[in-house]
Amino acid sequence: MSAQLDEMPKIRRMTLSDLDAVVAIEREVFLFPWSRGNFSDSVTAGYHCSVLDQGGHLFGYGVMTVGAEEAHLLTLSIAAGSQRKGWGERLLRHFIQIAKEQHARSMFLDVRESNHAAARLYQRIGFRQIGRRRDYYPAMGGREDSLIMELEL
Ligand SMILES: CC(C)(COP(=O)(O)OP(=O)(O)OC[C@H]1O[C@@H](n2cnc3c(N)ncnc32)[C@H](O)[C@@H]1OP(=O)(O)O)[C@@H](O)C(=O)NCCC(=O)NCCS
Repeated sequence: MSAQLDEMPKIRRMTLSDLDAVVAIEREVFLFPWSRGNFSDSVTAGYHCSVLDQGGHLFGYGVMTVGAEEAHLLTLSIAAGSQRKGWGERLLRHFIQIAKEQHARSMFLDVRESNHAAARLYQRIGFRQIGRRRDYYPAMGGREDSLIMELEL
């Protein structure tokens, strides 16, 4: 095993120097990815941007805002080769902890109606669907609804 993979994965703040790796994962896992500018704006605006890092190798990240007692999870991704090993849940719980520390009363997110894997993760943690935004996301051959989910903190 290489030296970098001997190290325990850790969650740390995203910096601008992480963006090559973040954007590469983003393009791998999403058909309609965020741009590099979306991530750099999030970092420079001071949003809660975190990465999963194992010895300098990034394999997951998320972005959240907190204000007015509401947390909004804007994105959450685990690299394809690291999915279904519990890291998505671990990173989500990290954001929930930050939201609680920042005195948010609820966490909200949007998920594509067809993204059953993500919706299952959110439901398992306790999120419930509170609404729907019609045609919120671009999709192959048209648009797709988002499901709005809330977790009371
Ligand atoms: C959604 C995502 C973040 C989940 O992360 P992950 O590390 O793969 O998930 P975990 O291993 O923590 O899984 C936790 C639970 O989520 C659910 N889940 C995760 N992936 C699933 C899948 N492919 N199918 C069904 N359920 C799934 C399961 O309930 C799972 O628990 P289990 O393995 O005991 O059944 C990850 O798959 C991902 O990055 N997908 C692409 C990007 C994306 O869709 N992001 C969310 C945008 S809203």
